[in-house]
Formats: sequence, C-alpha cells, structure tokens
Amino acid sequence: MKYKSDYSLDKEAIRILRSNEWGGYTLPTQKLYPYQWNWDSMFISLGLAQFDINRAWLEIESLFNSQWENGMAAHIIFRNKAPTYFPGPEVWGTNQDPPTSGCSQPPIAATIVLKIYKMNKIIGRSYLDNIFIKLYKWHKWFHTMRVISGGHAIAITHPWESGRDNSPDWDEAIEKINTKEELIFTRLDLSHVDKSMRPSDSEYNKYIYLLEYGKKTGWDHAHITREGPFAVADPGINFILLRANKDLLSIAEILNKDVHKVEIKKWLAYSEDAANYLWSDTLKAYVARNIRNNLYSTGISNVSFLSYYANLNKSENEDDHYSTLIKFIKNTKYCIPSFDSKHHKFNPIKYWRGPVWIIINYMIAEGLSNYGLNDISNKIRSDVRNLIKKNGFYEYYNPLNGRGLGGNNFSWTAAIWLAWASDS
Ligand code: DGY
Repeated sequence: MKYKSDYSLDKEAIRILRSNEWGGYTLPTQKLYPYQWNWDSMFISLGLAQFDINRAWLEIESLFNSQWENGMAAHIIFRNKAPTYFPGPEVWGTNQDPPTSGCSQPPIAATIVLKIYKMNKIIGRSYLDNIFIKLYKWHKWFHTMRVISGGHAIAITHPWESGRDNSPDWDEAIEKINTKEELIFTRLDLSHVDKSMRPSDSEYNKYIYLLEYGKKTGWDHAHITREGPFAVADPGINFILLRANKDLLSIAEILNKDVHKVEIKKWLAYSEDAANYLWSDTLKAYVARNIRNNLYSTGISNVSFLSYYANLNKSENEDDHYSTLIKFIKNTKYCIPSFDSKHHKFNPIKYWRGPVWIIINYMIAEGLSNYGLNDISNKIRSDVRNLIKKNGFYEYYNPLNGRGLGGNNFSWTAAIWLAWASDS
C-alpha cells in the first residue's frame, strides 16, 4: 500500500470518529466493541477536541454520567442494544442506570481533561467544576477499593480492568484460578476478528468466571479486591493513576480546592511507594506483581515505560530502566511491542502479547519528551506515523512487519493521529 498524505489521513480520521459516534458518545469500533468504553472514550475526546471541542466535552460528560454511587467509572457503558457483543449488560447484572460493566479501566480521564481545558480555557472552565468532583471520587475509589491493607499498589481484579486483557502479565494468576465447572457461553468477538489475534478460549473462560464471581458478591468492590480470585498490581494502571493525580492536582489548583489538594498529595506519595513495589531488580524494569503471593511477571510489558509518562520521582533505578527501554525498543522493526520480543511468550499478532498499541506509544513518547529524551520520543512517533500511513487505522499492529490487526476504523487510533501523530 502507498503512504497516504497527512491531509488525507486527517480527513479519514475525522470520518472514522464521526461514523463511530452513537449520539453523545463514540464506539471504539463497530460490531467488535459496540458500546462506550472508558479509556477509549477519553482518548477519543482528545481526538474530537482537535476539530470540535464542545463535542469532546460531551464525550467526557457522557462517561461520567454513568459513574457509580461509590465513585467507580465503569469500563463499559451499555446505553444501546448491540447483539454483536458478549458479555452484554444482562451478563454483568450490575443494576446500574445506564447499565454498565462491574469493573473499571485505566484512569486517563483527568490527564485528558486538563489537556482539553488548556486548549480553550473559556469553554473548558464551564465544565471543570462538575467534572473535577467526579474525577476526584473516581481516584478515591481506586485508592480505597483497589488496595489491600498494608500496601499502596492499585490492584486490578479482572484482566479487563487493565485494558490489556491477555497480557502475559496475568498468566500466573489466571492459571491458578480453578473454574471448577465448564462455563457455557458463546464468544462473539471471533465473528469479527480472527482467532489468532484474540485471547484464547481458556482465557475467556477465566474472564467470565471472574465476572460471575463479582456478580455473586453483588459487585462489592472492597470484598472482590480483598478476597477475590484475582488481584494483580499492574504498572499500567498504577502509572496512569499517578500521572492522573498530578493532573487532578493542577485542576484542583485552578479551582482552589484546598481540601482536595491535601488528599491528592497523599495519593501521589502512595503511588510513588507502589512504583517501588513494582520494581524488579531481576528484570531491571517495573513489572506486574500478583498481590496474593507477591510474584513478579516473568517478562516486561510496554506499560513498564509509562513510568516516564507518570514523571516518577528520580530514583536509583533510572539508569537501569533506561537501558532496558533501549534494548526493548530496538529489537522489532516498529516499536513499542506490548511484550518483550525476546521472551518466549511474545506473539506479534496476539492482542496484548506482542502487538504495538498506538495509545501506549503516545503516552510513553510524551513522557520521554518531558524528560528531554527527544530522540527516542521522536523515533516512537515516527514509527506510529509509518504504521498508520502505510496500513490505516487499526486497533493494533504487528511490530515485525507493521500489518494492521484486530478491529479496523478504530477510533482511538484515529484520535491519536489527529492529536499527536499528524504533521498537519
Ligand atoms: C473485549 O471485549 O475484548 C474487551 O477488551 C473487554 O473490555
């Protein structure tokens, strides 16, 4: 395929975002993900802000209109009926209005809100008070409902909460789950995307088992974190939340929310502590850790390098981690693979076990440039540009040959193109 011009790709990206719009919110892509997804929606709002800032605020508001009483912003909001997706609202059984799933997703919203506010402060100011309090409640939910007493690392209680469903980071904890009887359900994702690019049946069995477990507790989040079959500290969520709390603090400063500022500063200290917990001296990187037995993942994922995005305090690990990053990105034609390409579990086409994800690249590159590491940051951006220019707007990409994988006409890829990768 020929490389396309930035201008024609801008037009295509806008077309994708408009065509995936479903009346006040935007689908990640049609059929495969036919509802509103939490972090997708926030990256999408950044893309929308490039050509329709009011629509971007509407996208953000629509996510938080479904916030739970306890503060959680759910990972899927089921506002419409979509027979092409499993598990739908009746399977989750959360009794929310609108119906939602029962877990959350990486909290990038505060960072996006601050960025969009800065693009037009007059428009942004009218939304900020209302959204601040919702963001604050959500972050508080993470720091209370998703920690085990005695520790500060945020646990995910379902692989879907990380947004990185089948990462090898969860293998050890997932394999330990004894599902006892076989669950009967039909996967619908495989009618839209080839099986080789999606999680396995045995992983899906565990996903549904964990869902059913949560439902049986009446979606008691504190209980699920404390006692449930799966609780893993994910560098992704922990670093994204650390960065989000820094941005929430900036919003609190704009709004003179002094009482909230005190609490947010406490959370920042907790997250620095969580980063220490995730550091592996063996792998010389931040890696996922099973909270139940403290075991580390056996390999490194791209989200290890979100430490740059989080703007972590200087530490003695910094030089080692930087060397790890350099090795990690130079082994594939396109960076950054979602899992270490030298590890035996690396698979270049299987979802979060190897492919490049543009949103993670964007966050890491932004973090690196804040550290003045512009050469690597520029290399990441240039790879993203080439992937999109050559292949179009896919969900994820093969790091060895650049081929587009998973869903096509993908909203967050279009959004990141407009907000960051396009030169026009
Ligand atoms: C899916 O259905 O594949 C999603 O990743 C769950 O969030």
